Amino acid sequence: MKKKVTVKTYQEFKNEGRKITMLTAYDYTMAKLVINAGVDSILIGDSLAMTMQGHSSTLPVTVDDIIYHTKMVVQANTNALIVSDMPFLSYHVSVEDTVRNAGRIVKEGGAEAVKLEGGRNIIDQVKAIIDAQIPVMGHLGLTPQSVNAFGGFKVQGRDDENAKRILDDALALQDAGVFSIVLEGIPEKLAKEISEQLYIPTIGIGAGKHCDGQVLVLQDMLGMYDNFVPKFVKQYANLNSVITSAVQDYIKEVQDGDFPTEEYTYK
Ligand code: KIV
Repeated sequence: MKKKVTVKTYQEFKNEGRKITMLTAYDYTMAKLVINAGVDSILIGDSLAMTMQGHSSTLPVTVDDIIYHTKMVVQANTNALIVSDMPFLSYHVSVEDTVRNAGRIVKEGGAEAVKLEGGRNIIDQVKAIIDAQIPVMGHLGLTPQSVNAFGGFKVQGRDDENAKRILDDALALQDAGVFSIVLEGIPEKLAKEISEQLYIPTIGIGAGKHCDGQVLVLQDMLGMYDNFVPKFVKQYANLNSVITSAVQDYIKEVQDGDFPTEEYTYK
């Protein structure tokens, strides 16, 4: 059986040059499949706003939503590292409020680490959570909670000034003690530079192949969520068509009187 992955294992993986895998999951059944398939870590991402709740951004998610979904994933866990997102406004009001919310996600949800979007602007909150003995994962680049400030879901760090800002934020987060940083929606060259300058692992999504690991939203990579498919999403399956055709077969068999047959009937 695979060894339990922890924040320490993440660092060992980077030191050994072994790529880290992470996928989102938000419920027991899917988490069990993904964990049994051997993924290193699960993110209970606030992307559940889109995939589970049908919203067009991550902003509506609450701390209670994250706790609810984290609990379900934890039920399925054997050896993956469980990281949960801190939702929009759960770490922006005050340091005290931030630590209380992070603590609830760990204590009530069962997460082993929390992820926050931002750099030097949230450094006091990051340090306070780490002081409370809760591991923190950073998240820089196209941070979806900033969609309104960015004026849309736009690739970040294309010009020198913004690239430097993201690199400096990454270094500040590392100094503050985060165990890893997600780099989302930035040019490959910048992600490579950050990954080389940091001793902690970077996890990329839309940031090219030079990151120390990769994360994707499960519904995206399984071809289940097609409202919007970003360039960086590789669909490893087309579950939309698999599920649609299974449901259509069921409807037809019920309507034609072909289901249930003897095999599916108690005597
Ligand atoms: O919420 C999420 O799924 C995420 C990933 C896109 C990194 O933050």
